[in-house]
Amino acid sequence: MPAKSKSVFFCNNCGYESAKWMGQCPGCRQWNTFTEEKVIRPAKSTSSSARRNAEVVTLNSVSEQQEDRRTTHIDELDRVLGGGLVAGSLTLVGGDPGIGKSTLLLQVCRLIAGDGAKVLYISGEESVRQIKLRARRIGNFTDNMLLLCENTLSVIEETIKAQKPEVVVIDSIQTMYDEEISSAPGSVSQVREATNILMQIAKGLNISIFIVGHVTKEGTVAGPRVLEHMVDTVLYFEGERHASYRILRSVKNRFGSTNEIGVFKMEENGLSEVRNPSEYMLLGKPVGAPGSIVSCSMEGTRPILIEIQALVCQTNFGIPRRQCTGTDFNRVNLLMAVLEKRLGMQLGNCDAYVNIAGGIKINEPAIDLGIAMAVISSFKNKPIDDKIVAVGEIGLSGEIRSAGMIATRVNEFKKLGFETAIVPKVCMDDLKDVQGIRIVPVSNVQDISALEI
Ligand code: TYD
Ligand code: MG
Repeated sequence: MPAKSKSVFFCNNCGYESAKWMGQCPGCRQWNTFTEEKVIRPAKSTSSSARRNAEVVTLNSVSEQQEDRRTTHIDELDRVLGGGLVAGSLTLVGGDPGIGKSTLLLQVCRLIAGDGAKVLYISGEESVRQIKLRARRIGNFTDNMLLLCENTLSVIEETIKAQKPEVVVIDSIQTMYDEEISSAPGSVSQVREATNILMQIAKGLNISIFIVGHVTKEGTVAGPRVLEHMVDTVLYFEGERHASYRILRSVKNRFGSTNEIGVFKMEENGLSEVRNPSEYMLLGKPVGAPGSIVSCSMEGTRPILIEIQALVCQTNFGIPRRQCTGTDFNRVNLLMAVLEKRLGMQLGNCDAYVNIAGGIKINEPAIDLGIAMAVISSFKNKPIDDKIVAVGEIGLSGEIRSAGMIATRVNEFKKLGFETAIVPKVCMDDLKDVQGIRIVPVSNVQDISALEI
């Protein structure tokens, strides 16, 4: 049978495939993300010679050898990767344009090349001179650092085979293309095929490859979500463009745990690590202001203290305004409904604004208690003592439910000098061994409103 060429439509956001154009993607519910692409399906081979018996092994006979890991000399990145860079792995680094992906990877290249390993940085976006300008801000490089400006995959494959680097960076996957596929660079089929080829190179030659993927808001360029399932590790670089800190989050990791985060700060000479994010997040916290309290969120295995701020004021126009930055809008509405019903607070005619200071996004229910206390404090216009912190989830009947890893959180509070922690009563068993901080157990929202703080 000859190869067949046909036209299909792909969602640029999630890669959903469809035979016809659709306005809304059934996969990810985004609008106007479908673009048409020609795909050539290779003819199916029917000859019996193509079939072979695969080799089967017993599970017990497989040796438990540890993966071969190399340090990147950036502790925050090593932790997010699960303890270092695994040889032969394919890592996707996604993020908004301009967030610092190229900067981070260039810094990684510099440190790994400094170890004596050969590193190849392939850019399809910038010229050698532009890369040099960025590199000058970062520091000195050894001669192990090689550059290539290219976007044809066959050339890249040949170069990698000839140069035999140990680490390769592809910046970015959306600019790479395979001549055998007719659609434009950045389309879903090109991006997938390019990733496929890079995966084979990584596994075949035991090279660690980083690929950069820009998160695209609209247009015809496929986003990194399209290839999340193909790679070993997926890291996302987040942060507000105008704030200087950046968070690197692992959302998938075949060689380690997910949800780990690394915190960085963008400075004049590249990204620097933030080793104590809690201290950093609490910088500039107001003293004695109503509507502000510190809570703790677990990011992977790491506790991070955050300041929750609420502003509740009388509505001037008919419908109350509710706004929320850094946490889930619906969750805040739900909590306010619980406070209204269970405590009889008249929030129905109030505007409410809730903000997690510092621009970090937290969706963990364990900060519910903090949000509720901030709202109550602002509503009553009564400040909460600066040395008091709160953590716990709130249920619909106003009960305070447990928060995971409570001892770790309370120890983090203690470390940063807080004196009183308000925690769910159900967690008291886990806190038996914690000393040096006053613990106030609460079991429902009436308890918190009764606290004299
Ligand atoms: P970049 O790594 O080019 O972003 P991406 O590859 O994700 O698109 O980062 C660009 C931004 O970082 C740009 O706004 C300039 C800033 N920057 C610094 O503030 N300090 C530095 O040392 C460098 C290299 C960049
Ligand atoms: Mg870049």
